[in-house]
Amino acid sequence: MCGIFGLITNQNVNIGKVALDGISRLEYRGYDSCGIVSQSNGKLEIKKDSGKIREIQEKLHLEKLTGKIALAHTRWATHGPPNKINSHPHTDCTGDIAVIHNGIIENFMELKKDLVSKGHEFKSETDTEIIPHLIEDNIKAGMNFRDAVIQTLKRCRGAYGIATCYAKNPEYIIIGRKESPIIVGIEEGKTSYCASDIPALLPYTKNCYIMGDDELAILKPGEVEFYDISNSVKLIEKQPQLIKWDVDAAEKGGYEHFMLKEIFEEPKAMKKTLKIAPKNLKKFATLLNSAENVYITAAGTSFYASLAGKFIISRFLGKYIQAIECSEFQTQLNNSLEDDAVIIAVSQSGETVDTIEAIRWAKENHSNIKILSITNIVGSSITRYSDHTLITQAGPEIGVAATKTYCTQVLTLALIGLEIAKMRKQIPDQDIDKYYKALKETPNVIEEFLNKNVENIKRIVDNLEKNANYFFLARGISIATAKEGGLKLKEVACRFIEGYSAAHAKHGPISLVREGFPIIFIAPPDETYERLIGNVMEFKARGGQIISLVVSDDETIAELSDITIKIPQPATKYYNLFSPLTFIPALQLLAYYAAIKNGLDPDKPLNLAKTVTVH
Ligand code: G6P
Repeated sequence: MCGIFGLITNQNVNIGKVALDGISRLEYRGYDSCGIVSQSNGKLEIKKDSGKIREIQEKLHLEKLTGKIALAHTRWATHGPPNKINSHPHTDCTGDIAVIHNGIIENFMELKKDLVSKGHEFKSETDTEIIPHLIEDNIKAGMNFRDAVIQTLKRCRGAYGIATCYAKNPEYIIIGRKESPIIVGIEEGKTSYCASDIPALLPYTKNCYIMGDDELAILKPGEVEFYDISNSVKLIEKQPQLIKWDVDAAEKGGYEHFMLKEIFEEPKAMKKTLKIAPKNLKKFATLLNSAENVYITAAGTSFYASLAGKFIISRFLGKYIQAIECSEFQTQLNNSLEDDAVIIAVSQSGETVDTIEAIRWAKENHSNIKILSITNIVGSSITRYSDHTLITQAGPEIGVAATKTYCTQVLTLALIGLEIAKMRKQIPDQDIDKYYKALKETPNVIEEFLNKNVENIKRIVDNLEKNANYFFLARGISIATAKEGGLKLKEVACRFIEGYSAAHAKHGPISLVREGFPIIFIAPPDETYERLIGNVMEFKARGGQIISLVVSDDETIAELSDITIKIPQPATKYYNLFSPLTFIPALQLLAYYAAIKNGLDPDKPLNLAKTVTVH
């Protein structure tokens, strides 16, 4: 949450423009206000306001800022509403020290009281503002800028990724990290950059230094020094990580929105993910196979990918996997988590604080626990708390609503499932081959669907939008699809859609159904199909408008439906198991076009952020 971008250079660059481009590439992290500070001739100049970056840029001409240092911030409000005063950067009483921050300083009330008693004047309601005032105090006490920042960070509890500059110190800027991500990129001898996320650095470098907790970096033009500040202050060596993403992958590339582009990128992302090294899958399979108890935990879309994935893995593992939302993990398992359990944690960003906290708590309290993580981001926090990690190959996902990362997560979990099947030898080799063949075909099924169905989905959206609410109903593995499809519509189209079990819907939700109430049934021809027909009939009998998602040669449910969306895949058990992959693009497109029809920006849903680094 919140995007940070900063640079210090000795080159003649349009610093305001570079800073503006930097935060624009991070706008998916928060978009309720933004600001930039630039430093030149011993002075800071700040431009900031509430609103989307483009609106603020048109009003304030952020690109006109000059100097050799700039720090830029795009905000997702936590403390204080999104207005001009609460937007970052924040400064001290003298106006010489500026700070941008991502995270929450948990003890800010106590620190603020202390500062106010010493005469400091606060302008905003944010927790962040205590940081420049603490630095100011330390400088007044005789410390240099670096030590003043270190001593400040040592007093702050909570999470932070910060960047700070000091008007009287043109030589360097400082960044620090605890729990909230921040990375560094260097153009040697020329410019140093920092950012909360990789896409902001892609135009400049593919070698990124990933900061760890309690680390601090001093950025000079084209050079960087890293320090561990956890106890005494120690200079440390860090190696850069090579990022394989293309800069184009983080551009819209002719599509109107990132969300649409990323849906159309699903086949490619999945084909790349299919190439995950078997030796890495084997590590997961071996640990899962020998575990007595297996849990899977995640948030949001990653949680629904986990629901689909646990279903597939459980099939081959012969053991039930418990799926627990990460924010509930500790509370629910407080007295019962087994010492030798295996936990799979799924997170596209690898930075969701509740997911990190769940596995950290498990690890700290149970010495033999093994953590297996699946993420899209190399070097993200989740990887540090994991025994083994698999990296999905979705490439950068900029749309706030996750789409292609969902597909690559389910696919990765399915690959683990098949690796387990090979290891356990409980089902015939020919069957395993058929499952593999079907899984490898899923990107082609999606490609064919996307190429032929856009107009069809737009027509359905036109029809549906007359109605305020509707259900997505399913049984078995498709409940995950229903939930994820419902989430997409809530997120981007601002409609209340419930993804629910078709069987369970008769215990309450069915009372909402009136003549013409739309119900979307997700109906692959798996072992739940016949019973699902019964559920379709129940809703039809009450006047529901039946929209079904079925395979191409479906006849029965298609015949009972008012509208049918056909997924071009064979009706075999091998494909059915992977239907969460092949059926989801239809619902993602539905959500996308519903957002467009409602005049909403699907890339920036109201109140959301792509990476959630607060509890
Ligand atoms: C936020 C995003 C969702 C995402 C969830 C979990 O809510 O808006 O799209 O699914 O966080 O994120 P993660 O990075 O852990 O997958």
